[in-house]
Amino acid sequence: MSAPTEFKLNTGATIPAIGLGTWQAKPGEVRGAVSHALKSGYKHIDGALVYGNEDEVGQGIKDSGVDRKDIFLTSKVWCTFHDRVEECLDKTLASLQTDHLDLYLIHWGARMIPNETSGMFPLKPDGSRNMDFEWSQSQTWEQMEAVLAKGKVKAIGVSNFSVLMLEDLKKKWKVVPAVNQVELHPYCPQHELKKYCEDNGILMQAYSPLGSTSSPLHADADLKAIAEKHGVSTSTILISWSVCRGVVVLPKSVTPSRIESNLQVVTLSKEEMAKLDGLAAAGKQQRVNTPNWGTDFGFSDWYGVGNKNAPEGAKLLAGKA
Ligand SMILES: NC(=O)c1ccc[n+]([C@@H]2O[C@H](COP(=O)([O-])OP(=O)(O)OC[C@H]3O[C@@H](n4cnc5c(N)ncnc54)[C@H](OP(=O)(O)O)[C@@H]3O)[C@@H](O)[C@H]2O)c1
Repeated sequence: MSAPTEFKLNTGATIPAIGLGTWQAKPGEVRGAVSHALKSGYKHIDGALVYGNEDEVGQGIKDSGVDRKDIFLTSKVWCTFHDRVEECLDKTLASLQTDHLDLYLIHWGARMIPNETSGMFPLKPDGSRNMDFEWSQSQTWEQMEAVLAKGKVKAIGVSNFSVLMLEDLKKKWKVVPAVNQVELHPYCPQHELKKYCEDNGILMQAYSPLGSTSSPLHADADLKAIAEKHGVSTSTILISWSVCRGVVVLPKSVTPSRIESNLQVVTLSKEEMAKLDGLAAAGKQQRVNTPNWGTDFGFSDWYGVGNKNAPEGAKLLAGKA
């Protein structure tokens, strides 16, 4: 059986299984990368306002000559815009030169209050991030539902949400998130979160699927052995592993040959899937994307630190940190 090339969202729309990531694609690089990807057969681009390159992504789309209707476009509302979701969305739409997105996500489940230090990464006088611990994610989600109702986006979802955060959001959501985009690769396989999302009709998306920059994954002996057996690169195996387990995968590259080869998917055997599924539990669990939110937490449970609206479980975790 060949691997799927697209998945269904809970809206009924289809989403291409592989999308081009655009984080850390520098100015002067991303325009060509997006154009090359679309000309090479990609139909899905993942971006965000905070990547600071959406103007160029928009130019790359134009350069490609590919019709807007044939491209699945995702972007994300940044943390300093949680009280102004539509304003953030409008900036993205203008940059991408389009009147709608196919998917819009809450980038991280916590609000930062912009101040004179920055509109994007505001700091307090003590140097820590200027978080808003009074803010509930349901307030952000309500605005996401409003831009969906207006037709400016075709689907809404979240990113970096844990089970606890989704459970909390569920109390108020009218629209079930279409996706949850999280760090996901064999060293961070997210088994529990994936099961929760599947049970709730939420599609998982894998970010940093290759282990991001300076990835530890390509040197993994088990991964290398599987790649050698198939005569492909470790990147192809990482991408294939996600697609074969029903997860949308978002590899980033600005290198034309890699952009092309990252579209290749091989079908992995049950044994190969099980081997990769088990690497983290065998002692290799590791996150590669750990932004400094001024807390002790990895992943998204940092949301609970000090937030009076945080789910109880997150508060408990905060107590232990
Ligand atoms: N929602 C979130 O909070 C969040 C967080 C992180 C990422 N993301 C999304 O997920 C996307 C992917 O994650 P990522 O950018 O962290 O990392 P990634 O896709 O795991 O890895 C990108 C790195 O791998 C290299 N690479 C790409 N293809 C390769 C290949 N075939 N062989 C060897 N190296 C290869 C790239 O180099 P070159 O570019 O030089 O080729 C780059 O250094 C992002 O771009 C973004 O769209 C979302």
